[in-house]
Amino acid sequence: MLSVLSLKEKLISRIRAKEADIGIIGVGYVGLPLALHFLEAGFSVTGFDIDSEKVNRLNKGESYIRHIPSSRLIRFIRLKNSRGFVATTDMGRISEMDAILICVPTPLTNKREPDMQYIENTGKDIAKNLRVGQLISVESTTYPGTTRELLLPLFESDGLEVGKDFYLIYSPEREDPGNKKYNTKTIPKVVGGITKDCLEVGVALYSSIVEEVVSVSTTEVAEATKLLENIYRAVNIALVNELKTLFDRMGIDIWEVIEAAKTKPFGFQTFFPGPGLGGHCIPIDPFYLTWKAREYDFSTRFIELAGEINTNMPYYVVQKTIDALNERGRSIKNARILLLGLAYKKDVDDLRESPSLRLIELLEEKGAIVDYNDPYIPKAPKTRRHRIEKHSVELTVENVSRYDCVVISTDHTEYDPDFILKHSNLVIDTRNLIKNYGDYPEKVKRA
Ligand SMILES: NC(=O)c1ccc[n+]([C@@H]2O[C@H](COP(=O)([O-])OP(=O)(O)OC[C@H]3O[C@@H](n4cnc5c(N)ncnc54)[C@H](O)[C@@H]3O)[C@@H](O)[C@H]2O)c1
Repeated sequence: MLSVLSLKEKLISRIRAKEADIGIIGVGYVGLPLALHFLEAGFSVTGFDIDSEKVNRLNKGESYIRHIPSSRLIRFIRLKNSRGFVATTDMGRISEMDAILICVPTPLTNKREPDMQYIENTGKDIAKNLRVGQLISVESTTYPGTTRELLLPLFESDGLEVGKDFYLIYSPEREDPGNKKYNTKTIPKVVGGITKDCLEVGVALYSSIVEEVVSVSTTEVAEATKLLENIYRAVNIALVNELKTLFDRMGIDIWEVIEAAKTKPFGFQTFFPGPGLGGHCIPIDPFYLTWKAREYDFSTRFIELAGEINTNMPYYVVQKTIDALNERGRSIKNARILLLGLAYKKDVDDLRESPSLRLIELLEEKGAIVDYNDPYIPKAPKTRRHRIEKHSVELTVENVSRYDCVVISTDHTEYDPDFILKHSNLVIDTRNLIKNYGDYPEKVKRA
């Protein structure tokens, strides 16, 4: 009993003294900011990644994420034997860590089922290198049960016991890239442990980098918390998207309705319509629960319906574009269209699941000639599902005016509504970027 306590206490005291070595597996959009927060709090951090190009760049102090300046990283690059940051592809070094945080991707397969290969591979890497006295925290978004059913058996396979020899928790990442108001430190962190001792060590770890830690009773509760948050967003965005299409038919401006509704000081949270859902989380995570629910003979109708409505939005935008061109005696075939904003949301350079990619494909299928502008994405890279090989077109007077139509898909702050309005021939605005039509009321169509 004494030795059990002493192991836990030893780890907690190493954490409190900032002597604990932190290993972050998957140094991506989630892992890199998390690494920086541990570094800024005074810990030493090792970033583990299978992408050697990323590892090389990080070791030179180069951030590859637009909203994270390299200056935040470069001052921590570890010189020989000193503390600070180092990135590696060598998973064998996991054994040197006190706390290991899993931040690898959790996408869907092409059959829209959870693709657990990254979590499983990481689990195996950790299991091979697990030693007594380590804490493992899962941060990747996943279905309830992953930590206990999938990872725990791997970690216990060599005879080590959870809560006694090592500690295992789930603590969902709530990062909102580009959010200027909240950051990792000020967003409360939910933690659930496999055992009480696991939870205690987990709370000690996160208390050292965030202002508020919220303990929950199990890892399943913590896993489900993250899914509730994202499903809530997906469903409410779908609701407002559906109302947009109805109100449009009724001649009511959804944006004006939202502005009025949000003056209610209670019971209403504002969501905005758009060209569809994007990003690595909201279009994907809800389906992790849909998949798990089948085990319980349960169909997640809200999630399916929201998915259907949100997936349909790019088709709606394309139809509005066709109608607007038609009104001017133009056909979509051979129409020249400039799409503004490739990223899935404003002021970020992330185009994962971006509805803009689907919009380009659908417009091209109809015979339109489509270019794009995005100040943060000079070249559209290949993604798993889309092959759009284009370069961003500069937003000059000549360029904007030579297109039959400009489709605003992302409302980057850099976009000047007056400039776009003045120089384009026709604007399809999915984001309410252009609020004042001035002298050109006939030029803008909302979609
Ligand atoms: N991006 C967000 O805003 C956000 C917010 C909350 C939660 N999440 C969740 O966090 C997790 C990570 O998302 P992300 O956006 O950081 O993904 P990402 O693709 O930006 O980063 C993941 C990194 O993991 C690396 N990787 C993959 N397999 C690996 C392995 N076996 N070992 C080591 N490294 C490996 C990849 O090379 C990549 O660098 C996902 O579960 C996601 O749902 C993301």
